[in-house]
Amino acid sequence: MTTTETPRTDIEFNKRLRVVFDDLQKAFGDVALRHGITFDELGRAITYLTKLVESGDFLLAAIQLIGARPMEVSHGRAYADPEKDGASTWMPTGPAYVPGAPEIENPGVLPMAPNEPGETLIVSGVVRSTSGKPLPGAVIDLWQTTADGRYAGLTPEQAGPLEDLDVVDFDLPKYHLRGKIVTDAEGRYEYRTVVPGVEPAAVPGSPLDDLLNMLGRANSRARHIHAYISHEDHHMLTHQIHFEGDPLVDTVSEGAIARDLIHKTELHDDPAEWEARGLTAPYRTLTCDYVLRPIGFDEVKDPYLLEGFWKQ
Ligand SMILES: [Fe+2]
Repeated sequence: MTTTETPRTDIEFNKRLRVVFDDLQKAFGDVALRHGITFDELGRAITYLTKLVESGDFLLAAIQLIGARPMEVSHGRAYADPEKDGASTWMPTGPAYVPGAPEIENPGVLPMAPNEPGETLIVSGVVRSTSGKPLPGAVIDLWQTTADGRYAGLTPEQAGPLEDLDVVDFDLPKYHLRGKIVTDAEGRYEYRTVVPGVEPAAVPGSPLDDLLNMLGRANSRARHIHAYISHEDHHMLTHQIHFEGDPLVDTVSEGAIARDLIHKTELHDDPAEWEARGLTAPYRTLTCDYVLRPIGFDEVKDPYLLEGFWKQ
């Protein structure tokens, strides 16, 4: 190859770029025609985007508004089309995961202070395969915020822009409200925690805050509990439990939260009930079953079906 030739990787990249850009350009043209977007409006949008870039908010804005699908393509492909076999809906990891959380008992308690502020929440359920079979020995690696919406365990370097959002409490122990629980012989799990808080998604008064307001999107994350769920012979699921009645589930920046991720809580305010659990105040319960997709599900072909296909 002479020095003037374009490297092969660049040729492949350019081919892909041309195909994707053709599609994007056509999609934008269709939207412009459908909504009558004028040239003046396009100019205003470009001026606004320039302001976002200059402020340093463009990266966070892009991740929040259009990042979810590319993240799913990169890391959640094994859980695409959950409707077809009842597999759980995949959700992005987010920037607050810390590896190495301790294993807790089952039933157990997430690491927290004895007088942890917030409403007590007991989460339980079953981890199953899409065949319906319960999965003993599945590992659920959990992480969530405190009741005031802050994560523990992140260093300033890991926190990055999150430090400006005030979603990190650097004074808490590293694995505060982080832990792994292993399902029992029937695939069941149960742990006690507190209802997580609301994390800010934009610095108040920043260009991103302004943009989210203009779009009618919340400048906070809906309450959620993150989890990685893994089991041999199954694809690892990345998941977030959301809460019924939380108004933010319909206005989060990436669009409304999928309905099957939203879980109802039941309040137990009878003293006899909470005393029986050794608690000193009312508590809530929530049930969440995780459904994992076997590895190789899509690759298994029925030779007779294929034979029938070719005879058509
Ligand atoms: Fe989060």
